[in-house]
Amino acid sequence: GEEAEEEQSNESKQLLLSLPKERGWRTNHLYWFQNFWCPAKEIPAIISCQRYFQAQDSDIILATIPKSGTTWLKALAFAIVNRKRFGPKNHPLLTSNPHDLVPFLEYKVYANYNHVPDLSSSTRSCDPRLFGTHVPYASLSDSVKKSGNNNNNDSGCRVVYLCRNPFDTFISVWHFLKSARPASLGPLSMEEAFDMYCRGVIGFGPQWDHMLGYWKESIERPHKVLFLMYEDMKEDTGFYVRKLAEFLGYPFSLEEEREGVVEEISRLCSFQSLKELEVNKTGKGAVFNIENKSLFRKGEVGDWVNHLTPFMVEKLTKVMQQNLGGSALAF
Ligand code: A3P
Repeated sequence: GEEAEEEQSNESKQLLLSLPKERGWRTNHLYWFQNFWCPAKEIPAIISCQRYFQAQDSDIILATIPKSGTTWLKALAFAIVNRKRFGPKNHPLLTSNPHDLVPFLEYKVYANYNHVPDLSSSTRSCDPRLFGTHVPYASLSDSVKKSGNNNNNDSGCRVVYLCRNPFDTFISVWHFLKSARPASLGPLSMEEAFDMYCRGVIGFGPQWDHMLGYWKESIERPHKVLFLMYEDMKEDTGFYVRKLAEFLGYPFSLEEEREGVVEEISRLCSFQSLKELEVNKTGKGAVFNIENKSLFRKGEVGDWVNHLTPFMVEKLTKVMQQNLGGSALAF
């Protein structure tokens, strides 16, 4: 009831006071919580999710760091697993933003203090259940991490991670701030933002730890975690749509291949087609309370060359070498 809610919010107020903080991007501050930089509002939601979320074997968790292609991944996964349910004429993706079809655990599902959402209704209409998240692997609920640990490749909740070149992700976040940063917080200059980014001070960052965390899991448990790259997917969408479908347990049949279903899904979820839909041109509120159109800027690989100075390129290259250099994650 209300009292429990009040208690819970006091609990989180106390917690916030105890956490190191930095200036935020879209919010006043970011807090150092569970070894990542987190906006205040999401902290109780993440705690609730860790306490209450019970993963089912058929669940699919789509994980990203913000601005690395979450919207695209949600659209593709939704289209793949629901392709028997919806034809190209009446497809929900034509009238709903992908974020309205695949909710974020921390922004939506567990957004209310101490409130355990009834996920059974979504189970009935949506099997398998699809969720999005930005939290690092270590902060996923135990039931997500532990399910499917029986070495049976056909069971257990699955996690898909989409990774994007940090140069492009920085530029994408930077532009996104124009719609997402409230004027009341005052401006954030590109120099300041870049400095924060290089230090890993970004929502759910350090981004290097985020990527490496999921990368490591994808190597150790490839049937459990699939690691995808935005750039690869742009280059050969069909190949990765097939790979994603197989990983999720929904491989395309020969007949579907012949009928061009892979191409149909790739087209439906492409930047161009999503961007042109009415819901994405004039709709609002799929994430935060901003216009849906700010989720579709350019959708290209390498746009950073148009925005970063040679100094910035040199700096970020060095930072990436330091943080990712020893790993297979080279960009
Ligand atoms: P740009 O700002 O570089 O254009 P997220 O969905 O995680 O918020 O990421 C947003 C980025 O993905 C934006 O990048 C956006 O344009 C791009 N994007 C959105 N929909 C896409 C799609 N269907 N295909 C490819 N990129 C897409």
